[in-house]
Amino acid sequence: MGRVQALLPNEVNIAIHNAKKAQVEWAELSMDERCKYLEKIADLIDMYADELTITLVKEIGKPKKIAEDEVLRTADIFRATAQHARSLRGELLFGRSMVRSTKEKVSLAYREPIGVVLCISPFNYPINLSGSKIAPALAMGNGVIFKPSTQGVISAIMFVKILEASGLPKGLVNLVTGRGSEIGDYLVSHEDIDMINFTGSSAVGKSIAKKAGMKRLLMELGGKDAAIVLNDADLDKAAKAIVKGAYSYFGERCTAVKRVIVVNSVADELVSRLKKLVNGLKVGDPIKENVDIGPLISDKAADYVDELIKDAKKQGAKFVCSGKREGRIIRPHLIDKVTKKMRIAWEEPFGPVLPVIRARNKDDAIKIANASEYGLQGSVFTESVENAIYVAKRLQTGTVVINDKSSRGPDNFPFQGIKDSGIGTQGIGYALEAHSRIKSIVMDFK
Ligand code: NAP
Ligand code: G3H
Repeated sequence: MGRVQALLPNEVNIAIHNAKKAQVEWAELSMDERCKYLEKIADLIDMYADELTITLVKEIGKPKKIAEDEVLRTADIFRATAQHARSLRGELLFGRSMVRSTKEKVSLAYREPIGVVLCISPFNYPINLSGSKIAPALAMGNGVIFKPSTQGVISAIMFVKILEASGLPKGLVNLVTGRGSEIGDYLVSHEDIDMINFTGSSAVGKSIAKKAGMKRLLMELGGKDAAIVLNDADLDKAAKAIVKGAYSYFGERCTAVKRVIVVNSVADELVSRLKKLVNGLKVGDPIKENVDIGPLISDKAADYVDELIKDAKKQGAKFVCSGKREGRIIRPHLIDKVTKKMRIAWEEPFGPVLPVIRARNKDDAIKIANASEYGLQGSVFTESVENAIYVAKRLQTGTVVINDKSSRGPDNFPFQGIKDSGIGTQGIGYALEAHSRIKSIVMDFK
């Protein structure tokens, strides 16, 4: 796709210096003035949607329709962020409301920017997971250092050109390119970075957290989202949602369904429905044709998925759907009778491989789901409201979806991972809070 320079530490210093300087004036603008830039960016994303979409398809192999959704959804995020930011209000608090307070004092509590936000995005959503960081950071008056994933960087550069075309003040948003493994430590421990908004693997997220010191952290990390299927589920509906959730963009989604936990009594029926649907998935090259399954992002990613498949095979899992690997293309796999000893039961393949784990009953299913180190999302399939609420309340995840696949969107919903899946909450309004801090001015009120 192209060649991109790797910035050196002294160049990173210049970028951060520029962001710090530009942020001061940016924060002086009114919320309305800042939001007008966000709306202009949204319009430009719409205008260049076709070019952005094609670049995503070519660079990260995302099927065209999903790539287009990513782009248009990012324009929506900028617009909705502006709309929500305009409605933010401060608070006036009266000390006398507290029973034991003897003084007449008031607090003017309002939100102010944090400073310079380092936004690090992953390969799988180069536009959307950059926009969802940059929009709230800018709205709340922050400067931005943007470090996109090296895979996906060409798409990210196009996006930055759009930001530039909106007329944002010079130096406010700075692109830093280069491998995370080389420049990452320098960036995350830099004294002039005030906040890190990171999306990526739990391993990298944890290492950043160790080096970041007292910087504010917002992290969207890995997941092992379980789809729990109970004996009273509509199995046709469940199978359709699970296949879409597990194999869309070949499983390269944080919120992909990454394991099915089904109660024994309906397991055979569910697996036979899943099999039919998985066998219908079209495999090929997303650049040439409309396919469901294409090549994974790298040889390394495909090798890793292969390892998990081989481990499950060695340990006696039942391969319901499989096929030979062709380069980076892993054919859609459906693996039944997966046990707790197998790596695929716990690890995140980020590929088109779905393990099915059989459980004794709903409590056993919840126990298996919660044994994961991850806690991003989960879903439960049942026709009973009581069962749905019973499971949803007990799953240790940020979100539980009832009778549908797990999913981050709509983007105004709160989105957070617990355990190793993240720190803090995203989603339009929540992200504005996360990218700002409360300032309280207290005075006598006599
Ligand atoms: P990754 O390997 O962790 O990389 C993510 C970003 O971190 C990239 O920009 C990468 O740059 C950078 N990076 C790598 N090492 C770094 C370091 N030492 N210091 C600072 N930055 C560093 O993740 P990925 O493979 O791109 O994305 C897949 C993972 O992201 C999966 O685990 C998935 O679940 C997770 N994800 C989570 C969410 C969510 O919302 N929870 C959303 C999407 C993806 P380089 O590309 O230059 O290495
Ligand atoms: O990879 C993570 C994305 O944020 C997933 O978003 O679930 O709405 O497709 P989505």
